[in-house]
Amino acid sequence: MSEHRPTAVIVLAAGEGTRMKSARPKVLHRIAGRSLLGHAIAAARALGPDHLAVVVRHQRDLVAAHVSEVAPDAVVADQDEVKGTGRAAECGLDALPTDLSGTVLVTYGDVPMLEAASLHSLVAAHERSGSAVSVITAHVPDPTGYGRILRDADGAVAGIVEQKDADEAQRAITEINSGIYAFDAQVLREALDRVGTDNAQGEKYLTDVLGLAREGGRLVSAHMLDDLWQTEGVNDRVQLARLGAELNRRIVEKHMRAGVTVVDPATTWIDVEVSIGADTTVLPNTQLLGATTIGADATIGPDTTLTDMEVADGASVVRTHGSLSVIGEGASVGPYAYLRPGSELGAKGKIGTFVETKNATIGDGSKVPHLTYVGDATIGTGSNIGASSVFVNYDGVTKSHTTIGDHCRLGSDNMYVAPVTVGDGAYSAAGTVIRKDVPAGALALNVGTQRNVEGWVPRRRPGTAAADAALAAGAPAPEAAAGGEGATDGTTESAREARP
Ligand code: UD1
Ligand code: MG
Repeated sequence: MSEHRPTAVIVLAAGEGTRMKSARPKVLHRIAGRSLLGHAIAAARALGPDHLAVVVRHQRDLVAAHVSEVAPDAVVADQDEVKGTGRAAECGLDALPTDLSGTVLVTYGDVPMLEAASLHSLVAAHERSGSAVSVITAHVPDPTGYGRILRDADGAVAGIVEQKDADEAQRAITEINSGIYAFDAQVLREALDRVGTDNAQGEKYLTDVLGLAREGGRLVSAHMLDDLWQTEGVNDRVQLARLGAELNRRIVEKHMRAGVTVVDPATTWIDVEVSIGADTTVLPNTQLLGATTIGADATIGPDTTLTDMEVADGASVVRTHGSLSVIGEGASVGPYAYLRPGSELGAKGKIGTFVETKNATIGDGSKVPHLTYVGDATIGTGSNIGASSVFVNYDGVTKSHTTIGDHCRLGSDNMYVAPVTVGDGAYSAAGTVIRKDVPAGALALNVGTQRNVEGWVPRRRPGTAAADAALAAGAPAPEAAAGGEGATDGTTESAREARP
């Protein structure tokens, strides 16, 4: 894309967008993981212009802040109280060097599907033909609301007339102005100086530049784009969803063509920045969002949402909700796992069913298979955490860290009361509450000795199904119980049972 490079791109984003009925500026609404404006900026930047200006006015602080986040190198240009696309372009131009020459592109911040490749062919054709202005046009079934392309007897573009200024014959024209143009910088500047606001809307129209260029004997060209999606702007939330779905369809298709199996494209949502390796399978109802990267040969889904995740080759992630976490090569996650930010699972590790993790590093080959919370922890390699364990990281005031060594075999229903450290190769008994550090190779246990009160059920719960079953299994009958315990009242017996 180096041969034809615009000097500048001006993205118009000062409009109000009232039909969104939103407290948020229209251009900050998102599809495919990026704001509408972000899409427009990405397409512009892909052309490598020397200058990029974004024209703002409505809710300018919010829009300007977003611009400096997604394109710190862009110039934010403020539009004043004079209305119209012409004034907006002029304000953009005013924010750039005064001696600017070459090709200036104008695009819209609310047209998210326009591709860099289309802009590039516009610039290339514009420069090759020596045009002063080139405009992307399209034939649409219903041109209502758009500016119409006026052509003279030999088919050359003579100008653009807005819907509100058009007569009946002009309104019948179905070739519309997309609002995306390439201008010769000098022609644009000079023409804008002369454009007035004498029209139905009292606005300074950018479209008037075309007529003025023609009057000045300059060449004005049209570039028809068949792909209507690319020139469609978002005005309300119905269009937002429609364009979001179409953009998603295209993204999913791109991945399939690159070697990813997507079982159900209709229920698979993939953000624009996501990367997926070849031979990975994505199962239905899966969303891959943000800056997520998935390796090759992995299986993701069904029913999985991953945001800003890194998943290595060969991993399997089933019915999982995860964000800002790493899943190692060949590791297995889910079904029903919740990976909160800062979780890192090593190669061939396992985060199993009904497991929640947060800020936890789980080493290569280590397993947390069932019903467990691992928060603020480091687990070494090759260790196994028993079912139903909790890393007790919060004392009500501060969060503390738990460290587990390599090759530990830790029992079910353990509580690790942080801060605490379990050494390499240690074991723990089921039901242990680990409050003290466990040395390497030790067995930790702190469970009270179990005492069985023989015959308690037939004696204290006579006539119940449990008592009948116990008696049938040979439990001692009440009259046979020793030591007159049958006569003891409930209080006494409960108290006695409570003693260790
Ligand atoms: C404009 C064109 C019309 C074209 C249509 C395509 C003009 C006069 N008309 O129509 O020929 O068919 O786009 O969608 O150019 N904006 C500003 N400042 C303003 C006004 C608009 O920055 O003062 C921005 C908006 O944020 C938006 C874009 O320019 O991104 C277009 O504005 P919009 O009001 O939608 O354009 P239309 O008047 O409908
Ligand atoms: Mg308008």
